[in-house]
Amino acid sequence: MDSEAGARLDDNEVEMGHDLMPKITYIEHGGVEHIINAQSGFSVMEVAKANGIPGIDADCGGSCACATCHVYVDPDWLDRVGHRSENEIELLECVDKPDDTSRLSCQIVISDALDGLIVRMPQDQH
Ligand code: FES
Repeated sequence: MDSEAGARLDDNEVEMGHDLMPKITYIEHGGVEHIINAQSGFSVMEVAKANGIPGIDADCGGSCACATCHVYVDPDWLDRVGHRSENEIELLECVDKPDDTSRLSCQIVISDALDGLIVRMPQDQH
């Protein structure tokens, strides 16, 4: 019995080690917040779609070809989400109301360093 309890504890410890899941806050245009424990390695867009968060269409599935995954990155996080590629910059010219914080969410890969990231969705994606 003791060893069983010990094994259980070990399992929990292993799980805890893998449980470092960055929290991402998605804010809909109308102000509704969705706080998601995301998995590193996935994009901000993929996590939104997997969790049924409205406001990100992602018509091209993440190929950086449609610009329907536009988000505004909270200014405090801009330095940490990486730089826009040339392709992303061109696509962002097609979105409605782009600004200095505009990014394509399929191009932001979540990592532990983005724990606490806040993104806001535009009024619409088309
Ligand atoms: Fe199409 Fe991001 S999903 S550009």
